[in-house]
Amino acid sequence: MKCTFIIYRFDPAVDKESRYQEYTVEAEPTDKILDCLNKIRWEQDPTLAYRYSCAHGICGSDALVINSRVELACQKLVRDFKTGNNFVIEPLPFFNVIKDLVVDLKPFFDKHRSVRPYLISDQKPPEKERLQDSQDQEFFEPALRCILCASCTSSCPITRTNPGYVGPAALLRAFRYIFDSRDTATDDRLEKIDSQDGVWGCKTMWWCTDVCPKGIPITKCLGQIKRVLKKNKAAK
Ligand code: SF4
Ligand code: FES
Repeated sequence: MKCTFIIYRFDPAVDKESRYQEYTVEAEPTDKILDCLNKIRWEQDPTLAYRYSCAHGICGSDALVINSRVELACQKLVRDFKTGNNFVIEPLPFFNVIKDLVVDLKPFFDKHRSVRPYLISDQKPPEKERLQDSQDQEFFEPALRCILCASCTSSCPITRTNPGYVGPAALLRAFRYIFDSRDTATDDRLEKIDSQDGVWGCKTMWWCTDVCPKGIPITKCLGQIKRVLKKNKAAK
């Protein structure tokens, strides 16, 4: 069937303003939106810029706005949309556009790095490995599914109004280590996000949870951090 793709185009190096360009693609209902973008690029317009790598929902590099909602282009099929055969494709909101559908994710990864997304331990390294407690693992398992696609952070209304807010993806990563009993930096981690730029910036709007392509209950996880902070304050 014939599908119409209206795609955001902007090259800051040469364009004064952004525009939308229309393409017609012959597609099957079971084609991924990413397949359609590839058809456009390979068969019609090699100047169209977008990111992807794995094409299987693993690398997190092809998050886009498809018909007004943030989605992974490789995880959505043509038949998944109720808008008939018409698709409007735009870059992730909030981030600066490098070209067309490619945005600059450096601020996202800088914030992710700021929560120290790795295990910190003051214990002597064991001979083999630091075994993970199975109950811990069960508790924070949803957070392990995160593929750092930035869908949550770019959709979050607080991210847009408070540029200092570290954002749901970074807080989710903090959650993962705060509840890992092998990590000994818990107090320091909690102190660093005990602010409006940290976990209290989250106003439980649920947009992050709604758009997460991995079905992670992000808002609930952030709620667990808030609960620990409140409990610690009450105990003082
Ligand atoms: S929590 Fe979900 S939406 Fe956010 S970066 Fe991870 S996978 Fe993407
Ligand atoms: S291309 Fe890797 S997640 Fe879509």
